[in-house]
Amino acid sequence: MSAGSTTRGQRHLGGTMRRDAWWLELLPVIALLSAFGIYATLRALEGTYYEWGPYLSPFYSPLIDPHHRWWPLSPALLILIWPLGFRLTCYYYRKAYYRAFFLDPPACAVSENRKHRYRGETAFPFVLQNFHRYFLYAAFIFLIFLWRDAVRAFFFDGRIGVGVGTLVLLFNVILLTTYALSCHSLRHLVGGKLDCFSCATFGGPRHSAWRGLSFLNERHMLFAWISLITVGLTDLYVRLVASGAITDLRLL
Ligand code: FES
Repeated sequence: MSAGSTTRGQRHLGGTMRRDAWWLELLPVIALLSAFGIYATLRALEGTYYEWGPYLSPFYSPLIDPHHRWWPLSPALLILIWPLGFRLTCYYYRKAYYRAFFLDPPACAVSENRKHRYRGETAFPFVLQNFHRYFLYAAFIFLIFLWRDAVRAFFFDGRIGVGVGTLVLLFNVILLTTYALSCHSLRHLVGGKLDCFSCATFGGPRHSAWRGLSFLNERHMLFAWISLITVGLTDLYVRLVASGAITDLRLL
């Protein structure tokens, strides 16, 4: 059934001919994004307990001016815009938070409360969503630092070792990498924009890469949520260890 036929004659906010509990799917989105937003903001402002031994919280990587020579506030605030911008402009998250927080529209075939002319993402501030591709480029630079942090987490006072934190940091960067590789913009860049692979330069390798990225892209929503949760939990783990609330268990 098309959206037009399910909302016809139901033009007030939430008006629909749907009979299912369509609003239920908004609740976990509101809960998770709100919880993560509050936690990440508090942690970014805190400016302490972000490092222990070879572990560095992903919220603070790369670590810039930790001794406050020229930046008086939390080092996390210097880099926050990049991971935040990447998530905020993500095609999947846009759908999720437009629905959950702006009710614009609340769900498929459910009316929004539109009193103004619809301009989509062609006018400020939503036109800024078009910067997603540039945030993607930045995300890959950040991933280089996070992979470096994960490798460093294998070295304790110059000796190779493995702690629970090592595995936490490694798991986190694998998921963040998978999330970035499943990005719609990346799939488009690699091959989605091509009509003919065999006519394009490096068409064969691009086709193979595009097929692999398409496999991940079909699961983009899943990676978006799992990586959001794990990056928060990774920071929490480093914070708990750094503050002395728990002890890191050495496995090797
Ligand atoms: Fe979600 Fe690019 S579309 S990260």
